Amino acid sequence: MSTVVQASTIGSASVPPLPKADSCILVIFGASGDLTKRKLIPALYDLACAGCMATGFEVLGVARTEMDTEEFRKIMLESTSHSRDTRQFNDACWGGFESRLHYMAGDINDPGFYLRLADKLSEMTAAGSSGNYLFYVSTPASLAPPIVRGLGSVGLNRNTKGWSRIILEKPFGRDLQSARELNHVVSEVFDEKDVYRIDHYLGKETVQNLLVFRFGNSIFEPVWNRNYVDYVEITAAEPLGVENRAAFYEETGALRDMVANHLLQLLTLTAMEPPVAFDADSVREQKVQVLRSIRPMSLEEVARRTVRGQYAAGAINGTPVPGYRDEPGVNPKSVTETFAAVEFYIDNWRWAGVPFFIRAGKRMPRHVTEIRVHFKRTPQALFARTPDEQIEHNVVTVRIQPNEGIAMRFAAKRPGTQMKTISVQMNFLYSEAFGADTPVAYETLLLDAMKGDATLFTRRDEVEAEWRIITPIEEAWAELPPPRFPNYSAGSEGPSEAHLLISGDHRHWHSLMQ
Ligand code: BG6
Repeated sequence: MSTVVQASTIGSASVPPLPKADSCILVIFGASGDLTKRKLIPALYDLACAGCMATGFEVLGVARTEMDTEEFRKIMLESTSHSRDTRQFNDACWGGFESRLHYMAGDINDPGFYLRLADKLSEMTAAGSSGNYLFYVSTPASLAPPIVRGLGSVGLNRNTKGWSRIILEKPFGRDLQSARELNHVVSEVFDEKDVYRIDHYLGKETVQNLLVFRFGNSIFEPVWNRNYVDYVEITAAEPLGVENRAAFYEETGALRDMVANHLLQLLTLTAMEPPVAFDADSVREQKVQVLRSIRPMSLEEVARRTVRGQYAAGAINGTPVPGYRDEPGVNPKSVTETFAAVEFYIDNWRWAGVPFFIRAGKRMPRHVTEIRVHFKRTPQALFARTPDEQIEHNVVTVRIQPNEGIAMRFAAKRPGTQMKTISVQMNFLYSEAFGADTPVAYETLLLDAMKGDATLFTRRDEVEAEWRIITPIEEAWAELPPPRFPNYSAGSEGPSEAHLLISGDHRHWHSLMQ
């Protein structure tokens, strides 16, 4: 049982206006795909409405689908006006933004296409659009090599009229070897300072706030280590299934899709040492150190310290949903995992011996992304007569989404004549403190890429360090006998083995049913 006390801001809590981006032409490869209409265009529209776009900013969508600019604009209007990410849709704002959208059909494997693209960009620049070019590869980065080489073949990587940068979507490779090969191709054409590997979790306000919470307050840092922390729990649960991405997901699975990037990023920000400055290299240097301190697992360790699951039919919020193997486009005998849980150890002075339990799953009962830092229990002599289960750990919860905020749980005296304890919670909610009008992740990241700030993007060595941890798990899973899939029902909290992974000595996953 716990009681909740709300926290409030001291001083002005208004959200300051967003800065203006550098003017540029944003060329989106894969413009007829889901990401463009669901995330990128709504984010750009929001930025334009907030007055962040400089004169000369234009978007050029590129894909194989034959359509003209008018059709492209119609599709983008339809999705932006219905997108959850659009902060406030209105016709007047769309009217101004839409005139900046253009489309060009082309095959990324055709060398002639890049000449046409270079001509088109020159024409646009001559007609008053910006001379800076930002290329966004919105297909999985593994499909990027022909695009990167094509841009290099016509000199679009070394722009004489302004800057040229490239943004690459995750997953960045599918193992250490392929990530290295991809990095090699990219580095032959673009300077590392112009390469922006996107992990949209880093653009979330609450994720960035982790750094301020840890390093902008003097009370947490002294206890943020193995002397005080018992264990850390990081969860990314979503009720969504595979949706219309079966082809991608069958090849990827939960470990590569979520743990290899988003969740390892949350882990590094929770565990990293203070950077000397909040600039790209200082922050990324500290994150890489954490990743390098995680010892890759042997086959036996993988068998003991990881759990994979796949959902069977079940119900989400009372609505029946099919099992993974019955989803359209999925192999009826698929052994792709839709749930992954891993126990990581960070072998450094701050964290040695503290387990970091990570879990990610589809078709879970509700949408929850959060980090819970569980502190050690107090010596119990004072409360000898309080039943064990009523004495709880202090827990700091960073709620990434939804109900973005931070909560702190501690013990208080239960009113009455007896010395009994009760667990209470102090709660800070972003929406109450600042209103709901904060930028979504893609807005922040697109704006940063246009401004040339790579702090929230993943560096080459960071991506390789992530794969150095994940690849041995994938390899061991391929060798170990496969679990009997499906092994959890849609709408449940995942396979029972995941509970065994963490349980014991007062440890357990926070329930997703509450
Ligand atoms: C994406 C994954 O990167 O993140 C998806 O490919 C997942 O499978 C999504 O659904 C989750 O993002 P968010 O922001 O909704 O937590």
